[in-house]
Amino acid sequence: MPSHDVLIIGAGLAGQRAALAAADAGATVAIMSKVHPVRSHSVAAAGGINAALKPEDTWESHAFDTVKGSDYLGDQDAIEIMAREAPNEIIHLEHIGVTFHRNDRGELGTRAFGGASQARTYYVADITGQAILHVLYEQLMKYSTTVDRFEEWFTTSLITDESGSCVGCIARDIRTGQMEIFRAKNVILASGGAGQAWKPTTNGLICTGDGISQAYRLGAPLMDMEMVQYHPTTLVENGFLITEGARGEGAHLLNGDGDRFMEKYAPNKLELASRDVVSRAEQTEINEGRGAGPDGVGIYLDVTVVPKKRTLEALREIVNIGKDFAGTDITKDPILIRPGQHYIMGGVKTDAWGATPVEGLYAAGEVACVSVHGGNRLGANSLLDTLIFGRRAGEHAAQRAASMSMPAGKLGETELKRDVAQIDEIINRPKTGRRVSAIKDELGTMMNQNVAVFRDEAGLQKAHEIVHRLKEEAATAWIDDRGTVFNQDVLGAIELGYLLDTAEATVLSAIERKESRGAHTRMDFPDRNDDEWLKHINVTRNGGDEAAVSYSPVTITKWQPEERKY
Ligand code: FUM
Repeated sequence: MPSHDVLIIGAGLAGQRAALAAADAGATVAIMSKVHPVRSHSVAAAGGINAALKPEDTWESHAFDTVKGSDYLGDQDAIEIMAREAPNEIIHLEHIGVTFHRNDRGELGTRAFGGASQARTYYVADITGQAILHVLYEQLMKYSTTVDRFEEWFTTSLITDESGSCVGCIARDIRTGQMEIFRAKNVILASGGAGQAWKPTTNGLICTGDGISQAYRLGAPLMDMEMVQYHPTTLVENGFLITEGARGEGAHLLNGDGDRFMEKYAPNKLELASRDVVSRAEQTEINEGRGAGPDGVGIYLDVTVVPKKRTLEALREIVNIGKDFAGTDITKDPILIRPGQHYIMGGVKTDAWGATPVEGLYAAGEVACVSVHGGNRLGANSLLDTLIFGRRAGEHAAQRAASMSMPAGKLGETELKRDVAQIDEIINRPKTGRRVSAIKDELGTMMNQNVAVFRDEAGLQKAHEIVHRLKEEAATAWIDDRGTVFNQDVLGAIELGYLLDTAEATVLSAIERKESRGAHTRMDFPDRNDDEWLKHINVTRNGGDEAAVSYSPVTITKWQPEERKY
């Protein structure tokens, strides 16, 4: 049975950064991922990473922009840590080989991003996540004696000891179907978000809420789950991301009448207001009949105003995406976009070291909610969050491991038997229910109708009913593949359960929050209501099947809530 001081589930930026930090702190580490690490969803992060590194910038300014961006729901102690530690992280990345853009003077160069009062986004063209991910993976190669990599292993559940501490997981080797118990002193969830609960989404097929659901099933609280980010620029055809870097480089948004409508909604920041503000403005233009494109369902992003040489150098990935997936040459014509699901601000509740209320269980990156993003994440704060809190979780877990012995006994045997039996049951189901893919499709389409930019009680209640029905249907949903080798079909059935758990917590929290804040806009409660709702919503299952809602306070240090204007 593999045994490690620290077991990390997920090998994107948060997971790899945690692995490197834990190994540097002397821990034995296992890092497990259901895909090859460089295919993790961090690879899709395009536009950059924020840090107040320039002499004229300050961490306080970065922190305040983040607090304001969060619509005052972010915890200010955690935001302060992130903003203070950001500059050193950028320098560290540069030193280990990330080829950040340099300006004409040869210094690290920045671009502007939404909601920021300074251009403080460091970038590698529009492939920043990919560039960092590859460099971290290179670094991991140096640690082959202390970091064991389990690539293409799928976690089916977390395991606990008799006191309720998390002591490892059960996982399936995707290549062979073999199931195994992994024992660990600490587990760090770094398995990303759950964008696949919406359709379309900018998220890869692997973003199925695995860690969120596994922690939820164990009794860990999920926090801020109602806060779901719709990115302002995703392709109308398929939801692909067109990076905010385009607007950072100066691209305009135009409605169907050719008006630069952001002048109405955010006269100072225009296209570079925070994402919730821009997405709401776009959706309002579309809903009120001023949309662009054949059915008026989109908005034009006009990149032709950016000098072509600069576009080809700094935005080359979206030049290709525009041509390949929308048939548009963005250096010549505006491209049709609309708000699309991109990120969940909520996740497994953690402290600023990544520790969850479940002993031995940590979380970092999109799976976690520290909460540094609160009601709305600023663009380019996500890569930063993964790295800062991935490192901190790795360090803390290594430290905890140093003071304890390896969990012993028959740990995980019951869970192993249960998970093996569950997989057998899925594989042998009669073809009488619905297909897994049909249920997933209905879930995504329904969430995109009812749990999107604008929400109301009726739509959320409908979403609640549908999630319940889909949960029942998922219990008999069938698959085609009955084999053991690379059986992605059976994993899809398990992932559907993870997605439905995530959707359940999201919908419950969205019903609960009877105000509008950040990305959560209730048509029936259009105002922010600090008196009643300046608090986090937590959803917990407490080990049973019934979800319960509770509240926790928002940490306010320096910045009292005020009206947000951009
Ligand atoms: O638009 C983008 O490049 C996305 C960045 C982010 O979500 O941080």
